[in-house]
Amino acid sequence: MNTLTDPLHLDTTPFRARRERLLARMAANGGGVAILPTAPERTRNRDTHYPYRHDSYFYYLSGFREPEAVVVLVGGETPKQILFCRQKDEEREIWDGFRYGPDAACALFGFDEAWTIGDLERRLPDLLANQPVLWCGLGYDNDWDARVMTALNTVRANARSGVTPPHSVRDLRADLDEMRLIKDTSELDTMRRAAQISAEAHCRAMRQTRPGRFEYEIEAELLHAFRAAGSQAPAYTSIVAGGANACVLHYVENECRLRNGDLLLIDAGCELDGYASDITRSFPVNGRFSGAQRDVYALVLASQHAARAAIRPGAHWNEPHEAAVAVLAQGMLDLGLLKGNFTDVMEKADYRRFYMHRTGHWLGMDVHDAGEYKLNGDWRPLEAGMVLTVEPGCYIRPAADVPEAFWNIGIRIEDDAVVTADGCEYLTDGVPREIDDIEALMRDRAHAAA
Ligand code: GLY
Ligand code: MN
Ligand code: MN
Repeated sequence: MNTLTDPLHLDTTPFRARRERLLARMAANGGGVAILPTAPERTRNRDTHYPYRHDSYFYYLSGFREPEAVVVLVGGETPKQILFCRQKDEEREIWDGFRYGPDAACALFGFDEAWTIGDLERRLPDLLANQPVLWCGLGYDNDWDARVMTALNTVRANARSGVTPPHSVRDLRADLDEMRLIKDTSELDTMRRAAQISAEAHCRAMRQTRPGRFEYEIEAELLHAFRAAGSQAPAYTSIVAGGANACVLHYVENECRLRNGDLLLIDAGCELDGYASDITRSFPVNGRFSGAQRDVYALVLASQHAARAAIRPGAHWNEPHEAAVAVLAQGMLDLGLLKGNFTDVMEKADYRRFYMHRTGHWLGMDVHDAGEYKLNGDWRPLEAGMVLTVEPGCYIRPAADVPEAFWNIGIRIEDDAVVTADGCEYLTDGVPREIDDIEALMRDRAHAAA
């Protein structure tokens, strides 16, 4: 007898509540039926697959992590929440592991009905019939789009028997993006735990760093810490960039030897139960900042403090970026990286030579999470429950007009912030960011090794 009925022991209440909220939004916008598949499995090479990762929108509504599953939400007088999923199969479960099957999934994940995925094609036309609007996400997966259009055409072909097909198709994801932007308490709880694991991983990486080790060895320390704490995967490919590599924004080779006197930039975060964390720290390989490194680090840190101070409900999205850029621009002038005056540097955006990315992005199930940054052409106001990164940086490549002491210094300091009722809270305080605290942690490392 199979006693394994719920390996996740997941509280599925928030997922049902989200489906109900989506049905209410649909009802207020013409009603209809929503169809949302999870992600397909992907081949890596020959018969080996990439590790499976569910679709974030699908997971948001279902809490269900198996491949080959579809949520259908039927609006109208008696709304219905339906899950299509793989059927139980003793033979496949011996090879590939547990599957819920429709009966258990229906009960455990709080659906009204569940059917096997093999029934989808047959049942979809009936589910679409006489519904005013079809809500789906077109343009993400051509095979899926073709299946949905086939079902739609089947309903159209039945028009002579008195069936009406949906007269409009709407993008479900726009509504889901808005919902995903404000995190509920269960999401914030998971994100807090994800951030804590990543912070501990960064501390471990700092303790393990010393001249002569390889970037990939430090990456391995991060991956060890993520997995040993129960995270399922990194949320994105870790950047472990020593010296000049830190000036390559998306450096992921992680193959070089760490050198005495260089900085190491690590941008790494784990994914826990479907939620990302995203932390960057930059610190000296030998444990002590040199004069020029200290100057640039202090500047980036000051810009991060300024950005953080600009995060509160009602502030608009770009205010933290504007605050960070103002500090960076003045600091670049003070350090002799830029020439001229503050007004010109800001007007001509000269600071972009050394700070070419933005100060943050939404964070959630996806590391660059869903949600619009502007509403009707204006930066949107921040609201309590939004989660964003705060990640100013400064990247100085060698150039004749740049003092040599600054060459190849690449620094980013990145934390994860949740907007609170009166400001913001960092989820990532578990890893030091002040110069003294970083050096103290690295001194302890040296003592422990001695
Ligand atoms: N790690 C990706 C980012 O910081 O945006
Ligand atoms: Mn980021
Ligand atoms: Mn990052």
